[in-house]
Amino acid sequence: MKLHHFVSWVTGAAGGLGQAISHKLAEQGSHLILSDINHDALQKLSLKLSAYPVEIMNLPLDVSDTEAVWEGGRKIKERFGRVDILINNAGISPKGPNGSIPFQEIRIEDWNRVLAVNLNGPFNCSQVALEMMVENQRGRIVNICSQASRTYSPVTSAHYAASKSGLLGLSRKLAGEYGPLGIRVNVVVPGRVDTPMTQSVDKELSRQAALRTPLRRIGQPEEVANAVAFLVSDEASYVTGAVLDVTGGSLML
Ligand SMILES: NC(=O)c1ccc[n+]([C@@H]2O[C@H](COP(=O)([O-])OP(=O)(O)OC[C@H]3O[C@@H](n4cnc5c(N)ncnc54)[C@H](O)[C@@H]3O)[C@@H](O)[C@H]2O)c1
Repeated sequence: MKLHHFVSWVTGAAGGLGQAISHKLAEQGSHLILSDINHDALQKLSLKLSAYPVEIMNLPLDVSDTEAVWEGGRKIKERFGRVDILINNAGISPKGPNGSIPFQEIRIEDWNRVLAVNLNGPFNCSQVALEMMVENQRGRIVNICSQASRTYSPVTSAHYAASKSGLLGLSRKLAGEYGPLGIRVNVVVPGRVDTPMTQSVDKELSRQAALRTPLRRIGQPEEVANAVAFLVSDEASYVTGAVLDVTGGSLML
């Protein structure tokens, strides 16, 4: 129980990676705040997690809605008085029939929405969480980026790549600014992982990705959750501003 007495806030908790991360943190003994826009899926998840001896707070919200996130922060403060760990995991990746949407076909509304969820979302949640982390002098943030933030990705679209590259930059800035306060900020870069996000497109894309990957398969959500658990643990006490690639070797820089 490495995270006994910790309070962790997971966004996009009802999705593939979010569920695996939530299970892993609960297994480590952390209390959980679960946020997602999918209220039903959130209910189902918290029922499953009630098997762990931890407190669970359902906090349905849209991470791009600044007011809703600050209101959420007030509820967290009321219930737990603090948040020690924030996992900025909520994300969207609009896809075309062949995966990537051609740049000229991206409408400005779609561009704005992707940036709002994938980049403004972590901005909102980090501002709210950091206020409490600074007050409590303890904090660990993990931002879930993407290979598209580190290199050219043929299967994702321009708005997604831009948003995740922005998140990488934000992570570095926060790691530098909050390091002197002992607050650590790190990034996990998943390769292709078997979740609803990747299941929503042609299976052939995952098969091809597996063939291009040195470990010859796509990842499982639990494998990403294990990396997150390491970064928020005391074992990573000297790790901040780091990018941990969990890609089966498909990304080697
Ligand atoms: N699956 C992959 O292969 C892969 C690879 C690299 C990065 N990622 C990143 O990992 C994260 C999780 O992805 P996933 O594969 O679990 O996807 P997913 O679609 O299974 O889950 C995403 C979750 O985020 C929630 N969500 C969407 N918009 C939201 C909003 N505005 N506010 C709150 N919640 C919102 C969804 O309801 C969903 O439950 C994303 O940031 C994604 O970009 C995934």
